[in-house]
Formats: sequence, structure tokens, C-alpha cells
Amino acid sequence: MPSLRRSNGTNGTHRANGSVAGGDAIIRAEGVVKTYDTGTTKVRALRGVDFAVGRGEMVAVMGPSGCGKTTLLNCLSGLDDVDSGTIYLEGQDLARMGDRKRTDYRAKRMGFVFQVYNLLPVLSAIENVELPLLVSGIRPKEARVKATAALETVGLGEWAKHRPAELSGGQRQRVTIARSLVNNPALVWGDEPTGALDSSTATEIMDLLRELNRSQGLTLILVTHDPGVGAQCDRIVRMRDGEVVGEERGTPAAAQTLGGTLSTQVVGVH
Ligand SMILES: Nc1ncnc2c1ncn2[C@@H]1O[C@H](COP(=O)(O)OP(=O)(O)OP(=O)(O)O)[C@@H](O)[C@H]1O
Ligand SMILES: [Mg+2]
Repeated sequence: MPSLRRSNGTNGTHRANGSVAGGDAIIRAEGVVKTYDTGTTKVRALRGVDFAVGRGEMVAVMGPSGCGKTTLLNCLSGLDDVDSGTIYLEGQDLARMGDRKRTDYRAKRMGFVFQVYNLLPVLSAIENVELPLLVSGIRPKEARVKATAALETVGLGEWAKHRPAELSGGQRQRVTIARSLVNNPALVWGDEPTGALDSSTATEIMDLLRELNRSQGLTLILVTHDPGVGAQCDRIVRMRDGEVVGEERGTPAAAQTLGGTLSTQVVGVH
């Protein structure tokens, strides 16, 4: 069995613990190893990853296609099992949670925004946003109130009754962001959240995420190829071949020059 802890420097890998090395990490992973066994081949997708993110941080995970970014997201959010290593979510050991608690934690404390919107076409924007609440047993009236508030937060209050087909790509991504926020999560994961968008819409969505991070203290971990996304984050963690190979500070100051409030930013979104 591989060692669960790998010291930095002995193997050329990097500990992406950033500013949270001392403590207040919302998520902390140590020595995470994940191998996919397809029967004919074994792919070592994560080879001992150390990674931590502090409360209120906005972090990008970047690296070439196939380096393990989505695998990291899946493993650290508890969607997928790991071979070895330890993952702490708000101080709790994920491996000790058990399936039910893990699913519950994910539903209550995490939000997800993917490249593909994953909206149900037959449901309106508000119905899509309230769905996770209804699934987790919240009463319809309360779910509607929360979903309305989340849609307003992303500037789509007036589009609540529209179905996805009647919305632009940027608006659809706003609906998925509203859905990710509706449970008031501690942490939101994005996997190429701007990947399907043209560059000006991508900028608009990044501005929205940055604003949510600033105004609500939302912790965001964004997996991306897009250097524009990385530049908006506090920190960029670089991966290669299943390992974290370095990290650098982003330049989120660039976002501050955009100014304005959410309500002014969303005017004119089509
Ligand atoms: N379910 C799976 N079964 C087998 N191999 C897999 C599976 N998922 C991912 N892999 C392999 O694991 C490695 C890492 O994949 P991963 O999807 O994490 O990469 P990525 O960095 O997200 O790439 P991209 O930027 O293209 O999305 C790749 O070699 C991939 O082929
Ligand atoms: Mg991926």
C-alpha cells in the first residue's frame, strides 16, 4: 500500500495547500491515489495528490486534457471512491462518512456547475432550480421561495417561468449556478463552467462567480482549461499526469475594475 503522505520535494510534486497550510481548510486532501481499471488497462489518474482550499477562496485547477482534473473533482466531492489517501471535508474524514452521510453532505453542502448545463428541458428555470430541494425533502412552498431567491441572485428573476430552450447559453449557465446555490452550500465545484460559452458570455459568467465569491464568501473550485478563468481566481493549482506540479496566485484584481453590482452586471444578458 502506498504511503498516504508524500513529502514535497522528494518526488518533484507540489503540495497545493496554498494559504491554508495552517488550518481553516474547507477541503483538504492528502496523498489521494485513484486508478481506473478498464479490464485491459489501468490508468493512474491521480498519483498522490495533496490539495487544500480555504473558506472563501476561489481556486482554479488547470492542466492539460487527461491530467486528472475531473477525477480530482469527482474524488474530492465524494462522487467517486479513491484507492488511498485521505479527504477531509470541513474537518470530517470522507472515508468514515458512509454512503448515506456522504450523499447527504454533498446534497446539503456542495453545489455543482458543469460545462453541459444538465437542465431538464421540460422544466422551467425555477423548477430546475428547486428540484434538488424537493428531492432532499424540503416542502414545495419553501423550495419555491429559495429557488426564487437564487434566481434573483443570478439576475434571472424575470426568467423564472421560461424553459431552457428559451434561454441563451449564458442564461442557462446562470440557472445552473442558481441551482448550485439554492441549498446555500459551503463549496461550489465547477468543471469547465465556461467551456460551452463564447468569450464575452464566459467573461460575464466569471464576473458573476467572482461577485458571488466576494459578496457571499462562496468558496469556489473551478476546473478549467481557460486561462481567463484562472486569471480571475485567487489561486491556480497546476496539474500534470495525475499530480499537482505547482501553484501560483491569480490576478483577481482585474475583476475589481469591473465594479458594479450583480444587478447592474446582469442587465442586458440575452
Ligand atoms: N471512468 C473512467 N474509466 C477509465 N479511465 C478514466 C475514467 N475517467 C477518466 N479516465 C482516465 O483518467 C485520466 C484523467 O481523466 P480526467 O477526466 O480526470 O482528465 P481531465 O484533466 O479532466 O481532462 P479534460 O481536460 O479533457 O476534461 C485520463 O487518462 C482518462 O482517460
Ligand atoms: Mg475533465
